[in-house]
Amino acid sequence: GKGEYDHYMRKEIHTQPTALANTIEGRIKDGDVAFEDLPAGSFEDVECVQFVACGTSYHAAMYGGQLVREAGIRTEVLRASEYESTSGPVDENTLAVAVTQSGETADTLDAVRTAANRGARTLAVTNVVGSTAAREADDAVYIRAGPEVGVAATKTYSSQAVTLAMLSQRIAGDVPTATAADDRAAMLEALADLPQQVETVLETSEAEPLAADTIDSESFFFIGNGPAHSVALEGALKFKEITYEHAEGFAAGELKHGPLALVTEKTPVFAVATGDADGKTKTNAIEAKSRGAPIVAVGPDDHPLVDIADAHLSVPDTHPVWTGLLANVQLQLLSYHAATQLDRPIDKPRNLAKSVTVE
Ligand code: F6R
Repeated sequence: GKGEYDHYMRKEIHTQPTALANTIEGRIKDGDVAFEDLPAGSFEDVECVQFVACGTSYHAAMYGGQLVREAGIRTEVLRASEYESTSGPVDENTLAVAVTQSGETADTLDAVRTAANRGARTLAVTNVVGSTAAREADDAVYIRAGPEVGVAATKTYSSQAVTLAMLSQRIAGDVPTATAADDRAAMLEALADLPQQVETVLETSEAEPLAADTIDSESFFFIGNGPAHSVALEGALKFKEITYEHAEGFAAGELKHGPLALVTEKTPVFAVATGDADGKTKTNAIEAKSRGAPIVAVGPDDHPLVDIADAHLSVPDTHPVWTGLLANVQLQLLSYHAATQLDRPIDKPRNLAKSVTVE
């Protein structure tokens, strides 16, 4: 049940520290990553990794995919529904990773079956043991987030992103030509603190008053670059899904290539920080600000975006790889409080289903 919470979504947001602790449990040893059935060496033949997913899972795949790419491994992050027309060449050295919390999304199952038919090795990253994706793929890694009832994915996104980040390090460790991140050990060490840092965000978030201040706007824009791009997309998807307000996420640098025409004093811009390399986010946030848009920085206190922002949703300092996931928790809370203030049916938004089993 919902217990002390008004909605499942709220409960699921608040149980993320436990969910993430379960996701990580026993998988990081001696500065390395090992999954139960996929020990070191499991991915030594991989030359290309294709992630296929829909919606929120696609955003988690973007987050994890960037880390595989950074290791120098050919990486594609593909919308499952567009797999046919966007996939590059596939062979037996291709690892097709279906990212699907339910393991039942028709588009994702279809894409991974196509990849398998073309000769790829397949891996399901899912929350549901015994799901179709888990049964059909050559291997499965479970995100261990626990059951999620709210239609809007929250804790499964966080657990997927962390699982995929760990997977990226396992793959990078196995592929002979891959280049390990210089600070890999520090990154994995920082992961151990992530559940506690999510708790800190939950306890200190100012998203509720901020939602009240901004709810009377025309549109809500979310921008970020690098890993924060996917967080911006996810922030906008969650916001539109449960508030029914118009929200869009952009790669920060794209703002001036069209969307800027929509920016006014009635369009708050949520600028997501990832701790480093956010230069494009800052310059584009300044552009939006000069058009009158209120700017909300979502990131660490000492981040340069905070200096130019009108409001700030703060996250604890961590390794830059994890900052976006803390920022995402702030955006989950923002969407939740905005939707509550608008009296929306949080757990069952109109027209949407928890698991989309038609193409
Ligand atoms: C949004 C949401 C959806 C799902 C998408 C894929 O909050 O939950 O966008 O992420 O339908 O679902 P799974 O992960 O079950 O394949």
